[in-house]
Amino acid sequence: MYIDIAKEKFNKLKKEYKQKDILVLGIESSCDETSIAVVKNGREILSNVIATQIEIHARFGGVVPEVASRNHLLALDTVLEESLQKANVKLEDIDAIAVTYGAGLVGALMVGVSYAKALAYALQIPLIAVNHIKGHISANYLCYKDLKPPFISLIVSGGHTALVRVENYYKNTLLGSTTDDAVGECYDKVAKCLGLGYPGGVLIDKKSKEGKNVIPFVTHEICPKTFDFSLSGVKTSVINYVHKLEQKGEKIPVEDICASVQTQVMETIVDKTIKACKKFKSKSLVVGGGVSANSYLRQRLEEECDKEGIELYLPDLALTGDNGAMIASEGYFQLISGKGLAGLDLSPAPNINLKWERRKEKF
Ligand code: KG4
Ligand code: ZN
Repeated sequence: MYIDIAKEKFNKLKKEYKQKDILVLGIESSCDETSIAVVKNGREILSNVIATQIEIHARFGGVVPEVASRNHLLALDTVLEESLQKANVKLEDIDAIAVTYGAGLVGALMVGVSYAKALAYALQIPLIAVNHIKGHISANYLCYKDLKPPFISLIVSGGHTALVRVENYYKNTLLGSTTDDAVGECYDKVAKCLGLGYPGGVLIDKKSKEGKNVIPFVTHEICPKTFDFSLSGVKTSVINYVHKLEQKGEKIPVEDICASVQTQVMETIVDKTIKACKKFKSKSLVVGGGVSANSYLRQRLEEECDKEGIELYLPDLALTGDNGAMIASEGYFQLISGKGLAGLDLSPAPNINLKWERRKEKF
């Protein structure tokens, strides 16, 4: 039986990881990036091939789930081949397959998970189920070779805004998260309303440099006294503000809107993040997710961490967005912790974040 062989190999790898190099193939297909990577010992990227579908979805103003699934299917074989070639390894050299099984778009996840299962079965090697959000944290293990838990982590992406206490390589406690829109989602919706295009995060970041923080969009404390976030109101305030100006036939101050949204949203996130570090007396802060590429967020976190004596870990820009290397790295650390082994019955879990151990924290 496949699962018996996989279990035996998984346990053997776990026992021998200090004596032997372990190659993990990471597969990511949760949204609009098809990516496959080969990572050695959880820390060294041998290859990280990313086929983005941004151009395909841009004309629709956002990701169309069914179109994403179909394009993952079309891309996977080529991405795998290129990834193995770049890493200069053969499929037979791979020790385990790590795959994103959630969170994300169910159809897109289904394609990656099915592909990973087929590969693991054909090679008779262990399959490791990876939570995409944890993958964003692990991107930092690839950038900082000596980084080890415990630490506080801020994950900011298109689908998630979360403050997490990472206890060890496997155990995480969710301190707070978004109650509605994630930061990236908030940026993308504001950008759409301003007619800037998709994905909006990077465009707002750019435009905000030419504007000033002069329009109050966040006029109340967001989720007071907790580490939760609520950002859907920002989009509504921007829509109302733009409509009012349009009705009066006035010019829309796009740059000032961008600068105001960026400053007010990011200041809330920076404030709660630093409070979390202080509350848990964490001397290290690890940031991850597509929005961790944001220039304002990076600068403000650097300033605040400097002031508070907190060591800040920001991922390299190339590893902020979705990629297979972070999944392979997370898979490796699960493996050496003896966790995450999956069978051929693994199914996508679009809302996996809800399964995190949760503490309703207050400050
Ligand atoms: O992590 P990611 O690639 O995908 C998800 O897991 O969701 O994050 C994508 C998100 C998008 O919403 C995009 O607009 C946002 O990251 N993003 C940014 C920046 N670059 C990408 N948001 C703000 N500033 C940026 N520079
Ligand atoms: Zn992501």
